[in-house]
Amino acid sequence: MKFAVIGGTGLIGSQVVKKLNAAGHEAVPHSLSTGIDVITGRGVEEAVAGADGVVNLTNSPTFDDASPAFFQTSMDNLLAAGHKGGVGHFVILSIVGADQVPNLAYYRAKVLQEDILKAGPIPYSIVRATQFMEFIAAVMSWSTEGDTVRLPTTALQPIAAQDLSDTVAEVAAGTPLNATLNIGGPDVRPLDELGRMTLNARPDGRTVVTDDTAGMFAAVDGDVLITKGDARIAPTHYTDWLA
Ligand SMILES: NC(=O)c1ccc[n+]([C@@H]2O[C@H](COP(=O)([O-])OP(=O)(O)OC[C@H]3O[C@@H](n4cnc5c(N)ncnc54)[C@H](OP(=O)(O)O)[C@@H]3O)[C@@H](O)[C@H]2O)c1
Repeated sequence: MKFAVIGGTGLIGSQVVKKLNAAGHEAVPHSLSTGIDVITGRGVEEAVAGADGVVNLTNSPTFDDASPAFFQTSMDNLLAAGHKGGVGHFVILSIVGADQVPNLAYYRAKVLQEDILKAGPIPYSIVRATQFMEFIAAVMSWSTEGDTVRLPTTALQPIAAQDLSDTVAEVAAGTPLNATLNIGGPDVRPLDELGRMTLNARPDGRTVVTDDTAGMFAAVDGDVLITKGDARIAPTHYTDWLA
């Protein structure tokens, strides 16, 4: 099968391209750096023309109030081009529990992206994943001041990008689900503990201070970002990933 992987140079996109090609498909990465722009529409029709499936793994450059407009415009452009080009399956990657965090613009933006896809003209699959293990260091950097990293006790269930990419590639190559598949990592831990584990494995002079008001995850209540009963659980543990 032929795939246009939009955002195919990113963390997940680049691995999905490799996995689809290794499975015998023809997957082509497209992104700003390959010359397309999902916001202006430049190159989008050409990118998706002739593809059996489109896998949209782009991300908004910011997580703030500008993110809903990014997902609205990019989905409008990609769905219009995909429909015109006869694409038979459109896949996006969203976030477990995104609809449970309406006070964060980025999570609202991901729900908007899902809603646009569901209302659109192309058979679809939505993969909702928990937070990437690769993302923990970035989260820590956002609330670092000097040698202190302030982190809340928010429960997270980190997943390795490798594991998630296997599932995204598998879903893309399958029959459209016209539904959502949830996937998370094997362990649930508070974010402050994940920060301490990270610095134990990779000491850099910083220490973690628990602060339930710190950073974007402070806005998250209880276990809303944790998978529930019907989810797929990925194999890689954070301790092994860190090692
Ligand atoms: N972070 C998490 O823990 C998490 C959890 C669940 C789901 N997700 C979702 O996973 C998806 C992929 O995330 P990621 O971390 O793999 O993303 P990423 O590494 O930041 O990659 C983003 C990709 O989007 C491309 N891009 C950005 N703006 C574009 C534009 N205007 N036109 C064309 N391409 C554009 C980038 O192109 P260039 O490289 O050429 O600039 C890059 O290929 C996101 O939708 C995110 O919401 C994330």
